This record gives sequence, C-alpha cells and structure tokens, in this order.
Amino acid sequence: MAAQTGKGPARTGLTARRGALGLLEAVLDRGELLSAAIDDADGPLAGLAPEDRARAQRLAIAVLRHLAPADAVLKPFLRKPPPPAARMILRLAVVELCLLDEAPHGVVDSAVALIGADPRTARLKGLANAVLRNAVEAGPEIWARQHAQRLPGWLRGRVQSAYGGRLTAVIETAHAAGAPLDLTARGDAATLADAVGGIVLPTGSVRLADPGRVSALPGYETGAFWVQDAAAAVPARLLAPQAGETVLDLCAAPGGKTLQLAAAGAAVTALDLSETRLARLHQNLTRTGLTATVVAADALDWAGGPFEAVLLDAPCSATGTIRRHPDLPFVKSAADLKPLVALQAALIDRALGLLAPGGRLVFCTCSLLPEEGEAQIRAALDRHPGLAVDLPDLAGPDLAGVEPEWAGPEGIRLRPDYWADRGGMDGFFMTRLRLPG
Ligand SMILES: C[S@@+](CC[C@H](N)C(=O)[O-])C[C@H]1O[C@@H](n2cnc3c(N)ncnc32)[C@H](O)[C@@H]1O
Repeated sequence: MAAQTGKGPARTGLTARRGALGLLEAVLDRGELLSAAIDDADGPLAGLAPEDRARAQRLAIAVLRHLAPADAVLKPFLRKPPPPAARMILRLAVVELCLLDEAPHGVVDSAVALIGADPRTARLKGLANAVLRNAVEAGPEIWARQHAQRLPGWLRGRVQSAYGGRLTAVIETAHAAGAPLDLTARGDAATLADAVGGIVLPTGSVRLADPGRVSALPGYETGAFWVQDAAAAVPARLLAPQAGETVLDLCAAPGGKTLQLAAAGAAVTALDLSETRLARLHQNLTRTGLTATVVAADALDWAGGPFEAVLLDAPCSATGTIRRHPDLPFVKSAADLKPLVALQAALIDRALGLLAPGGRLVFCTCSLLPEEGEAQIRAALDRHPGLAVDLPDLAGPDLAGVEPEWAGPEGIRLRPDYWADRGGMDGFFMTRLRLPG
C-alpha cells in the first residue's frame, strides 16, 4: 500500500490525537457511529478547537481504514497483544508513520507521551518506545506489502457472493483509498469547477481532490452548489424531473436529491421521518434559495398525491459509502439487514400507492448488496403485476457519463471501484419503474 503524500511534521500538541483515540474507542469499543461520536456535545471532541477537531477526525478515519495493515506492522515487534488502550495508540502512531508520512520523532514522542499519561497504559512507556522505534525502521516496508483492509466476515461473504473474490478485493482497495469531495452545481458545472478549482466528472458532478473547508469554497454562501457524491447525484437524473411536474421525494433528508429535483423546476414535496435530518434539509433549501414543500411524517402511513413521479432513496445498510464512512463495517451487523430489507419493500409498495397511473418511481439505495437492490426490484415486480423497469436510453443526455455496462435487467449498479483513476464513486443501486397508464 502506498503512503499518502507527506503532510509535514507531526504537531507537538496531543489534543487532536487524544480526540482521535476517543473517537476510535467510541466506534470500536462502544459500537457508536463515528458521526454520532463527532457530534456528541459531551463526546471525545467536546471543547476542541476547530483545527484540532478536524485533525482528530482525519486521524480516526485514517486508522479505521487501515487497522489491519497497522496491526501487521506492529505484530513482529510485540510478543503478546498489549491492552486495548495501548494498542490503539500504537496503531495511530503506525498510521501516522506509514501512511501519513509524518515526522518519526514527533510521532514516537507523542505516542509515548499518550501512553505515559494514561494510568491504564503508563507502565508500557518503554515498550511503546521500543516497538515504535522498530516501526520507524521497518514499518514502511511491511506496510507496503499489505493488501487493503478486508471487510468483516458478515459483509465480505455477501459482497463475495455478489461480485466474486477478485472484485471484492478491488472494492476493498477502493475503500482504503478514501473519497474526494464531490459537489453538485446549481447552475453550470464547468463554471463551478473553475471557481472552486475542481474538475467536471463525466456525469456532471464537480470533484475536488483537496478541498479544505467546504463552507470556505467560493459559492457556498450563495448556494451555487451542494455536497453530494457523484453516484448519489445520478438517481435524480434517472427520474428526469420536468419543470412543473409534481414530484415526491419520499425519504428526503438531508436533501441532496430534493435540491436537484427543485433545481430542475419540479414542484417537490420532500418527506422524511426525522425532524433532525429535516432541519438540515431546511438549511439546504434556505442556502440555495430553492423551494420544496417539506413534510415530517412516516412515509408508511402518510396520505397525499397522487404524484407524477416519486423518488425513493430508501434507508439501507449504506455499505456503498464505506470509503467515506469506514466506521460502518465495525458498527453494523448482519442483524441490521433483515428489517431494512423489509422496510424497503414496504416503502416501495407505499411509493407506488402515491403515484398517478403511468407514473414513474426511482428506487435507490447506497448499498453494495443485491438484497437491497436487484433482488428488491425482482420481488417488487412479482408483487405488482403491470409494473415494469423503465430505464431511459443510456446514450441519451439524461444519463450522460453512465456507462452502458453499469446497467442490468433490474437497474443501474454503481460500484466504489468504478472511476478508480479519478477517485472512485460511492456504491449505489438505482432503477426506474413505471406503473401501467
Ligand atoms: C438514504 S437517507 C435519504 C437521503 C436523502 N434522499 C438525500 O439525498 O439527502 C434515508 C432517509 O429515510 C428516512 N426514513 C427512514 N424511514 C422512514 C419512513 N418510514 N418514512 C419516512 N422517512 C424515513 C431517514 O430519516 C433518512 O433521512
């Protein structure tokens, strides 16, 4: 595995590293989502200055993406596994040395100081010093020999059954590589790309390799763009909303797809169960000056419409977003899947009930798993005689940049390893269904 470009000398301060270790404990020991631990007002980042918060997050994410290679570097220098708190400090140091290319003496001094300051680990200062001095010498070479971190068993088996062993390893490599920042332009993508120093992707999203703070980008305040992975921007285009059309965004918050539908001029109703997430949707609408009717309700018992089109971005395992959210494999389990698959089926049935005759439904999930995609659609077609998959011409303008080989009989399957040389994309399944007229 290649080291990332050097980020300069490690800072002497320990605050960000302590924050990172707190985040790692929250995810790996307590099974919390990283986003929840970051947002927790009493959590590991409470009271940290913005730059320490940002650095703590970057470090925690890097460690979560590379736990296995870090352990491989440490293994030859440890006779037995150290206590969990010491192990995590050593892993963090190895990732800083071998991936982030930080100055060795600063990394080793910080790790030894952290171990010494924690009563659970203070007695291991000498050991940590010796292990890390070895890691400084031999670590980068051992690191370079490692394959990308594997998915946990519950998920790896399912991904292997869907895509085979070789592609599973390719997907794992894409997860380890992380993700750039993608923006959807409210107006012309090329103009936005010029303004923010990005490139326009084949599907029209704007990509930035090294963006810094999003809210500092030109055009943020005026709502010239919103953050949205390139793959996540395709379902709204698949719906092909027309100006004035009545469109229901059934699981809408925080609203990336609502904004796309509204920007196309559709009369959008945006519904979601979560008031908290809807607050972000409201902020997004205000910032961009776009409009939608916002409804807080459970889609399963809400009555409205009929609508000419419905977009259903259903709750799912989110396994397509692991390159952005490397905590997911550690905090989710197979037990989470069954209720999600059942909820998705119920939401599809409800969405169809809210459509006018001849109306179209785009169903999508940011999942790698066929049970939340292709299989879900086969089951829906069985339940609803007359319902049909209705993909547009992939050579047409609506879906420019979507490769014909990404489409199958049930819909379009996007994978994290696509566009590997450009920085990848989230995994997604999406399809368009049409009711009989
Ligand atoms: C994948 S997210 C939607 C992302 C959103 N479409 C976007 O592009 O920003 C799924 C959403 O479904 C919502 N949800 C889950 N169950 C729901 C239900 N029964 N009724 C309405 N919304 C629900 C969740 O609150 C969550 O916001």
